[in-house]
Amino acid sequence: MRGPHNIWRLIRTGATLERTGAMPVLLDAVEAPRLTRMAIRGLVWPFQWLGLKGDETLPPVPRALQAMGPAYIKFGQVLSTRPDVVGSGLAVELRVLQDKLPPFPVEVAKAEVEKELGRPVDALFSMFSEPVAAASIAQVHQAQLRESGDFVAVKVLRPGIERAFQRDIDTFYLIASFLDAVSPSSRRLKPLDVIEHFEGVVLGELDLRLESASASEFAANTETDKGFTLPRVRWALSARRVMTLDWAEGINAAEVEAIAAAGHDMTQLAQRVLQLFLKHALRDGFFHADMHHGNLKIAPNGDIIALDFGIMGHLDEYTRRVYAEILFGFIQRDYMRVAEVHFEAGYVPADRDVNAFARALRAVGEPIFGMNAEQISMARLLSYLFEVTERFGMETRTELILLQRTMVVVEGVARTFDPRMNIWDAAKPVVETYIADSIGPRAMIADLQRTARVLGRFGPRLPALAESALIRLSEERDPAPRARPWPAVGWMAVGAGLATAVAAVIAGIA
Ligand SMILES: Nc1ncnc2c1ncn2[C@@H]1O[C@H](COP(=O)(O)OP(=O)(O)O)[C@@H](O)[C@H]1O
Ligand SMILES: [Mg+2]
Repeated sequence: MRGPHNIWRLIRTGATLERTGAMPVLLDAVEAPRLTRMAIRGLVWPFQWLGLKGDETLPPVPRALQAMGPAYIKFGQVLSTRPDVVGSGLAVELRVLQDKLPPFPVEVAKAEVEKELGRPVDALFSMFSEPVAAASIAQVHQAQLRESGDFVAVKVLRPGIERAFQRDIDTFYLIASFLDAVSPSSRRLKPLDVIEHFEGVVLGELDLRLESASASEFAANTETDKGFTLPRVRWALSARRVMTLDWAEGINAAEVEAIAAAGHDMTQLAQRVLQLFLKHALRDGFFHADMHHGNLKIAPNGDIIALDFGIMGHLDEYTRRVYAEILFGFIQRDYMRVAEVHFEAGYVPADRDVNAFARALRAVGEPIFGMNAEQISMARLLSYLFEVTERFGMETRTELILLQRTMVVVEGVARTFDPRMNIWDAAKPVVETYIADSIGPRAMIADLQRTARVLGRFGPRLPALAESALIRLSEERDPAPRARPWPAVGWMAVGAGLATAVAAVIAGIA
């Protein structure tokens, strides 16, 4: 799929980026050298009339992405969660991208459901509504089951969306390999990795079985969480392109006044939403990573209902423990302890000065704890912390960035419920409970038991494993360099071709 027939899409993309003024911003972001910059812009400039104009009220980059359609919009949204990649300014700018699209007709949705589930819609449902929500990848209908009379939500992928996305992702790969070839200084940004990350996120959303699986895993983890409900997956009515969940009745979390008018305790709701998120991240290592208002409802009994399991975050157990200790250290304002945890975990290279690091951490913590209770933000603490750790040589980790980003959103939601909320007071008990359960003596016994179980399983194979590990160690070499899908030579050929075309056009005009 990756070949010259994509060149037209590439030209169109380049032209739109140039026409909307997004090109220089992006070239800045990838730190393209001056010559490359001039070459690219010189090449694209004559074609800019082929580009889309976009919505002039938007800043250049969101404007270009919005104009180029769903995959680009989605790409922008994913990048907005990666300030480590695009810088915090652009990340904030990209948050304006909303993937609201006109819905497709209910008849089309019904046909998709029949095709996927293999039975006529009328046989399954006694009612199937017009779409209640529509986004770039899927839309949602309300329906009623013929058999039981239960109400359900049916999420249906847009027809043909997989192919449309695949085409655009191919173009993204082309652009990324181009940048990789012409702009080695952009290695910090690793364009191909960024596209791979994006492809992973999107492929996950294009298979609703994965979302169903996330929903059911999340439900199993949180079964005993008080005041929290998830809609049940109806597996028999779900497939790759259709997902059916119990209908969740409630008030949208954005309608704060309606929630208050219904008599719910706003202070309590604010605390609960934050504590639930932290509990899921720390206790389960599996958290809802898209907890904005639109994906939350408040049930008539006051329960918080979460919807939309397309983006979930994972943290392995070790990372959870390290981060709980770090947060705990901050809560106690024990900066030396926080510094030591980073060194013990190997996050910060051992040759750095632990005292200087502890001092930098104090500079992160003290101003935040000096603020009024209602201004203290855990998300901000984490974001400052990552800045400092990066300065001290720690590698950026996608899952932590996602955690921090989600924390921003969750704090925002909590503060709309209770603007005066003290985030730290709400967070403290969750962190402390986790520490007590996971780092104390009880946890040590559990760890030993688990280790013994694993060793027991491997018992008969241990000698052979040890031997092969030793052999591998002694043979260890540098990893092979990564192959580029589009070598620089290919790009030169494309460039030469385009330049000739431009020259011919100019010659024709003259
Ligand atoms: N189980 C459900 N019960 C009630 N409404 C739902 C349910 N699932 C989705 N919705 C509605 O449909 C909207 C879009 O669904 P969502 O899963 O968030 O899709 P998207 O991934 O497109 O955001 C939600 O904001 C909510 O209003
Ligand atoms: Mg949603």
